[in-house]
Amino acid sequence: MDDGYNREASRELTKLLPAILFLRPYLKQVAFAGVALVATAAITLSIGQGLRLVIDQGLSEESGALLERTIIIFALLVVCLTVGTMLRFYLVSWIGERVSADIRLAVFKHLIRLHPAFFEENRPTEIQSRITTDTTLLQTVIGSSASIALRNALMFIGGVVLLVLTNPKLTLVVLVSAPLVIAPILFLGRRVRRLSRSSQDRLADVGTHAGESLRHVKIVQSFNHEARDEFEFTDRVGAAFGVAVSRIRQRTFLIALVMLVVMAAIGVMLWIGGQDVIAGRTSAGELAAFIFYAFIVAGALGAISEVYSDLQRAAGATERLVELLGAADGLPEPAKPAELSKSGGLTLSVRDLSFAYPSRPEVLVLNGVSFQVRPGEMVALVGPSGAGKSTLFDLIQRFYDPSGGAISLNECGLRTLRRSDVRERIGFVPQDPVLFSGALRSNVLYGNPGATAEQLDNALRLAHAETFVHALPKGLETLVGEGGVGLSGGQKQRLAIARALLTDPALLLLDEATSALDAESEHAIRRSINEIKGRCSILVIAHRLSTVRQADRILVLDSGVLVAEGGHDALIRSNDLYARFSRLQLEGRTLPAA
Ligand SMILES: Nc1ncnc2c1ncn2[C@@H]1O[C@H](COP(=O)(O)OP(=O)(O)OP(=O)(O)O)[C@@H](O)[C@H]1O
Ligand SMILES: [Mg+2]
Repeated sequence: MDDGYNREASRELTKLLPAILFLRPYLKQVAFAGVALVATAAITLSIGQGLRLVIDQGLSEESGALLERTIIIFALLVVCLTVGTMLRFYLVSWIGERVSADIRLAVFKHLIRLHPAFFEENRPTEIQSRITTDTTLLQTVIGSSASIALRNALMFIGGVVLLVLTNPKLTLVVLVSAPLVIAPILFLGRRVRRLSRSSQDRLADVGTHAGESLRHVKIVQSFNHEARDEFEFTDRVGAAFGVAVSRIRQRTFLIALVMLVVMAAIGVMLWIGGQDVIAGRTSAGELAAFIFYAFIVAGALGAISEVYSDLQRAAGATERLVELLGAADGLPEPAKPAELSKSGGLTLSVRDLSFAYPSRPEVLVLNGVSFQVRPGEMVALVGPSGAGKSTLFDLIQRFYDPSGGAISLNECGLRTLRRSDVRERIGFVPQDPVLFSGALRSNVLYGNPGATAEQLDNALRLAHAETFVHALPKGLETLVGEGGVGLSGGQKQRLAIARALLTDPALLLLDEATSALDAESEHAIRRSINEIKGRCSILVIAHRLSTVRQADRILVLDSGVLVAEGGHDALIRSNDLYARFSRLQLEGRTLPAA
């Protein structure tokens, strides 16, 4: 009947094996913990024998000396048991903490290098919860449940052996009731596990929803959306609560059932054994020892049933973590990478480039794009929103591999180069710059933490960020990002330019902010570009006439196709799309609206 369940349950638990691999560096601690575990189990079991001696010899034969000796041995055993338990508890908890910390590290180390498309298919918030909740679960299991299970398994086996040795007839009662205890554990345990997985998913939902609303609290309040948010949140919290309650109900039932069966069995034993003692077939000490072992065996079973669902939950957690650890890198590094020169100019060549996002393979976001940017050149890329400009920047930095065509730096294809080498030579200013929580200084030093104070000042000056930075009361030590002060879009963009310049790139990819910048920021960025020009090649996605006018050449991108190339004046005359675009977009952004 339960063959299928047994097989399924053991298959579940094998999913814990990968977590066990993380124990390998700590074999010494595991060995010591194992010795402490076996020793404490053995001592606990021997107490039953002591009990028998005390009752049968010490009390019955009224030999005071013997009683005294037995008590001394008992006291020694208790001391050993205490020390062993201390050791066991410390070591096992230590191993649990260490291993879960190692798994956390391993997962993060793997994920942080993974191709960005992975995080489009897998929500980062969900991954975050896996790194925290799933590893915490493993920590509890390795640091306590597993040791409880092992200790009690030992006590169970030892207890049964001693039961048989003490009184084979009464042992029959135990053996008959054992399946009655084990069967519901297997049945209900499986259901508990399923419910707890779903309860964890529900909880992740709650976290995601709260995080999103709180992060964008201005939008929420601006649209008077608080009540509706509250309503939706109530729903999710309710769902999580509902699943949790059904889990608790199953578990309550399980615990009650196990207790009832165990107590009934002990009652029967007392009844049968008591009659044997009265009839003189067995001694009182033997019955006492037997009851002691029966309690141990029952307690062990109960403890195992308690932690069994923990073990199963941990199996699920391990499975998810192993999934993350096993996620293949979608952008494989070359076995024998070509060498990209660490200094000097860089020629960017894009040939017949086509690309579709993995999530929308049928839409070509870029289609047959070819162009070159030579060392020291400044090229502006313009085109309507959604034309594929930012996507092109992603491809140049190899965040994705193209569907067709190729990108090369100094005639080396991107796929033949180490990703880190490519990114070392390229500076990137994103469309909406991100600042990490921390000081302004660490944000600017982000790509080059070893830069000197002089290099830092120079980068800030080139980006025309020094004036506003020094006007802040705490200057470079001002805290920004989450929990820090807010900066305007233009200020953030100038900091992002400084951050990119500090890495001394050969090619600067500048994705101009689409949002209207204040006149001062716009002016600053224009002067900044003027100063950077000639120091490195610049490929700039331009939304402003002032930027376009600074460029040596303009590329016009429309729906993923490069439709024209040339200087501003020539393009105005020769290309309708550009002329219209220039009139409506570029100039509109520079001149105040009429
Ligand atoms: N991660 C993504 N997955 C799927 N499609 C995407 C993704 N990012 C962008 N797209 C789509 O690719 C197209 C090009 O987007 P892209 O961001 O490159 O436009 P853009 O030219 O930079 O526009 P803008 O001037 O508004 O910044 C758009 O249609 C967009 O919807
Ligand atoms: Mg863009």
